Parts: sequence; C-alpha cells; structure tokens
Amino acid sequence: MSTARTAVITGAARGIGKAIALRFARDGFKVAVLDLDEAACQEVADEIGAAGGTALAVGVDVSNEEQVESAVARVAGELGAPTVLVNNAGIIRDNLIFKMSVEEWDAVMNVHLRGAFLMSKACQAHMTKEKYGRIVTMSSTSALGFRGQANYSAAKAGLQGLTKTLAIELGRFGVTANAIAPGFIRTEMTQATAERMGLDFEEFLIERAKVIPVGRIGLPEDIAATAAFLCSEEAGYVSGQVIYVAGGPRT
Ligand code: NAI
Repeated sequence: MSTARTAVITGAARGIGKAIALRFARDGFKVAVLDLDEAACQEVADEIGAAGGTALAVGVDVSNEEQVESAVARVAGELGAPTVLVNNAGIIRDNLIFKMSVEEWDAVMNVHLRGAFLMSKACQAHMTKEKYGRIVTMSSTSALGFRGQANYSAAKAGLQGLTKTLAIELGRFGVTANAIAPGFIRTEMTQATAERMGLDFEEFLIERAKVIPVGRIGLPEDIAATAAFLCSEEAGYVSGQVIYVAGGPRT
C-alpha cells in the first residue's frame, strides 16, 4: 500500500476489537480506536504508538447518531478518510424469552444494529468519495439461534442482512462488505457469560473446547486474522459473505 489507509474499529478498547486494532496497525493502517470510554481507547492507541504505529483514540457510543457523526468527522480530519470500517462493538443482555425485558431487547438492538447502521452510513460517505472501501461487521454463530439470546441472535442475524445489502448497494463504488461470525472466543464477554452461569472460566473453556472440531477455544487473534484478509486490497472480489470462524461449521 503506497499511502496508509485509515481503519476505524469500534469496540476496540478490549477483546476482539483490540486484537483487530493491533493487527491492523501492524499491517500498516492508521487506526481509529473507538469505544465508550476514551481513556480505555487511549491505552490501546498508546500501545500501537509504542510499537511504531499511528492511532487515534475516540470515545463514542455507536448507538448515538450525533456522537457517531462527530467521531467519524474527527477521524477523517485527524487521520484521513476512513475507508476501512470494522463494526465490532457489542453487548449481551441474555435472558430466556419469558423473562427478557424490553430494555434488554432494545439495548442489544441499539448497539449492534443501530450502531452498525450509523457507523456504516457515516463511513460510506467517505468510501464512496474515495471509490474504495472495506466494511467488516461482527456477526456470531448465535445468528443461527442460541438459548437465552433471542435479542442477540436476532441482532446478529440482522447484521448479516445489513452486510449483504451494503455489498449490493456499495459494490459499484469499490466498497466490499462482509461479516465474520465468530464461534466461542476467549474474551471478557465470554468470561462474563461463564460467571453468570456460576462456572469457573478455565473449566468452562476446557468443556467448550471438547465440542469444537479443531479442539481448542478461539482467540481474538483468530478473528483479527480473518478481518485482516477481508480488509486487504486483494480481497476486493469477496463481498456480501458471512465467514464462520468457529473451529468448525457451527460451534
Ligand atoms: P467485549 O465485551 O470484550 O468487547 C466489546 C467492546 O464493545 C467493549 O470494549 C465495549 O465497551 C464496547 N461497546 C459496547 N457498547 C458500545 C457502544 N454503544 N459504543 C461503543 N463501544 C461499545 O466483547 P468481545 O468478546 O471482544 O466481542 C466483540 C464482538 O464480537 C461483539 O460484537 C460480539 O458480539 C462479537 N462476538 C464475540 C464472541 C465471543 O465469543 N467473544 C462470539 C461471537 C461474536
């Protein structure tokens, strides 16, 4: 790549988003680290800076239209047009359907669906102008259905529909859109799930690994490697796809 492109990663203060931010910086992107708490984003940006990369920390709630617009404008002004976007920010509010509150439903819809819509809309304005873009959105194997996750499963399936439509609408501008559907990945999100179920996290990991065909738990770096390919120039003919990165077809 002659001139470094600017990549925006949401939910990048920790977990999968952080691994993507670090990987993209190593791959030569200027990286905008977006998350709710700007100080937490700054720690990731500092780590990238210390390793010789370029990063900008931006505090933003991806479900808030005004905050998204000003965050993307700030990234464009300070790093350059964001032509790569990874919609990764996410939350879980698990409950069985008969106990799930409207607040739990709305919170999950707002972060995943509204957030990815707002971020994609704001960034595509720059991508279409530049006649180049890569959008990767984090779905999940839960899109296929998962007990206790009516809200999350619906949102993650919805993101696959959003992805395919972005691919159809934006392809003519040199923009591709794809989704990654991770299986079980070791992060604070899955640790919180184990704790809620009253399970020891390490034992939980050992049990989960037994049912995964490749025989191990996924790591944030597994997802970062897939995102790196989908956001590379050479992936320009891959669009509207959902790649399951789960150590097997559906685990
Ligand atoms: P995590 O909970 O460790 O990190 C998510 C990040 O998103 C946090 O830093 C959080 O502050 C941020 N975030 C939440 N709401 C936000 C908002 N409104 N605006 C901006 N940032 C916000 O989660 P993890 O495990 O790294 O997951 C990342 C993505 O991958 C999520 O979309 C998740 O649903 C998805 N995923 C994770 C899997 C796993 O096994 N860990 C499996 C499948 C999908």
